[in-house]
Order: sequence, then C-alpha cells, then structure tokens
Amino acid sequence: MDTGICLRAMASQTMWVFGYGSLIWKVDFPYEEKLVGHITCYSRRFWQGSTDHRGVPGKPGRVVTLIEDPKGCVWGIAYRLPTGKEEEVKAYLDIREKGGYRTTTVDFYPKDPSLKSFSVLLYIGTCDNPNYLGPAPLEDIAIQISNAVGPSGRNTEYLFELANSMRNMIPEDADEHLFSLEKLVRALLEKGQNLNCR
Ligand code: SIN
Repeated sequence: MDTGICLRAMASQTMWVFGYGSLIWKVDFPYEEKLVGHITCYSRRFWQGSTDHRGVPGKPGRVVTLIEDPKGCVWGIAYRLPTGKEEEVKAYLDIREKGGYRTTTVDFYPKDPSLKSFSVLLYIGTCDNPNYLGPAPLEDIAIQISNAVGPSGRNTEYLFELANSMRNMIPEDADEHLFSLEKLVRALLEKGQNLNCR
C-alpha cells in the first residue's frame, strides 16, 4: 500500500462524536481531543422522554434531542475518540444513549475559524422512537422536568447543568428554548420552596 492510501485509511478510522446534551457536561468516556463548534439544520429541544436516566417508566423525564430545522444551528462539543478504541467507546455510548437514540452523521463546524468542517457522529431521538414525547407548551415541559427523577438523578440537574455549560462555553449563543425552560423551572422551584416555608 502506498503512503497516501495508508494515511487516508488511518484518517478514515478517526471517530468524532458530537455532544449537544448530557454529553457536554457528563463526560464519563475517554477522548483524545475536544472542540467547541456547531452543526446546522437542527434545533435542540426537550422533546425526548427519559425512562432510564432522568425519569422512570410511567413518569418519564424530558431530555434533549434534535429536530430538523432548515434555519437551525446547535452549538456543542465534538470529541475525538481514542485511537484504536473508537468502537469500544462507541459501544459504551450506544448503551448510555440507548433510551431511544440512534446515530447519524452530520457536518461539524469548529468555533476556531482556522479549522475546517468535518464529519461527526451524533445521537438523535427521532420522532419514531418509543420514548419520543414531542412538543408541548413550555410551561408543561417545565412542570414535567421539575417533578421527574430517574436512576441518574433529578431531571432539573440535567437542565441546569446543560444551561450552565452552554452559557459558559458559548456566551453569545441564545438558545431560547433551553434558557426559557431554565427560567421557568427555577421559578417553579422557588415557588415550591416559598410554599414549603409557609
Ligand atoms: C447528547 O448529549 O449529545 C445526546 C443527548 C443526551 O444524552 O443528553
């Protein structure tokens, strides 16, 4: 094999995974490099039900998925999986994300303008998966998140960790859906605390 073919073969094995939800703030998998950036033609929504992490069967929580949106842009983090261990780490992520997510490949645009776009794998809960909940009034989603708890902890932790990470990482990104929900849920919790104090 000539060197060019060999290098191309090696490059083709490189696996990047894009995180836009818990993969941003709960990084319990090994990686070799990470880059902040965005993908296009999708928007992030709390439309995926969670019965294995942030809720339970019969009382699901809500976690994020991506919906197709021609004008959409989602910021997140791309992780380069360790060389030679790509399939092993992906197998772990497949289990972690098994609650209705499947993988797809999209183009990723690094924040650093000197870097070119490249392909990333991402986990998406499309509307045909059994845990998909879909749209609902934001106030109803906020109530559901305030009340849900699952094996991985409170649904509110998921929302607040994600909102904090996004604020710190990309202060210029105005993800209205995410930050409006954060506001509503904080208000609900405060109201609950005030009622408990009476
Ligand atoms: C992701 O973080 O990219 C997938 C959705 C999630 O696990 O929250």
